[in-house]
Amino acid sequence: MFNNWEELEAECKKCTKCRLCETRKNVVIGTGNKEANLMFIGEGPGADEDEQGIPFVGRAGKLMNMAFTGLGIKREDVYIANVVKCRPPKNRNPEDDEAKSCLDYLRNQVILVKPKIIVLLGSIALKNILGKEYSITSARGKWVEKNGILYMPTFHPAALLRDESKKILFWKDLKLVLKKMKEI
Ligand code: URA
Repeated sequence: MFNNWEELEAECKKCTKCRLCETRKNVVIGTGNKEANLMFIGEGPGADEDEQGIPFVGRAGKLMNMAFTGLGIKREDVYIANVVKCRPPKNRNPEDDEAKSCLDYLRNQVILVKPKIIVLLGSIALKNILGKEYSITSARGKWVEKNGILYMPTFHPAALLRDESKKILFWKDLKLVLKKMKEI
């Protein structure tokens, strides 16, 4: 556990805890406000993120940005990170052992940011943070409280690119988040 960002980020940048370090270009740690009340957790970097070292800058990120703009969420006001910090080759899902070895960093980020609400984007974030028993289709749109943090699972923006009908549900879930943000 690191109690400052400098040490945590330095550790992440030199991490070789799993095989994803062998193929990465950049370690994608996180972006946004490090004191945000609202945090978003995705799955892992894709090609664009790996190239730039910043989460959600590719197609899924652009769609998320559009939703943010429509909802009045400023990207720079929230903190955005992923379950794994290095790109899984060919955009495959992270393996369980890869996620497990990376999760300590993410937990450390959550401790430093101290968000009140965390939005879990998609099934990989949901299962790794809240537990394997959850499924995204039944868990989305419902609050889960754990260790003093409120979690809102919703679809991953990439899922919206594949299935337009999910957009309205994603929007609804983020509306619930905004409502709660005003209440707490
Ligand atoms: N998908 C993710 O889960 N995270 C990113 O950073 C980009 C795409």
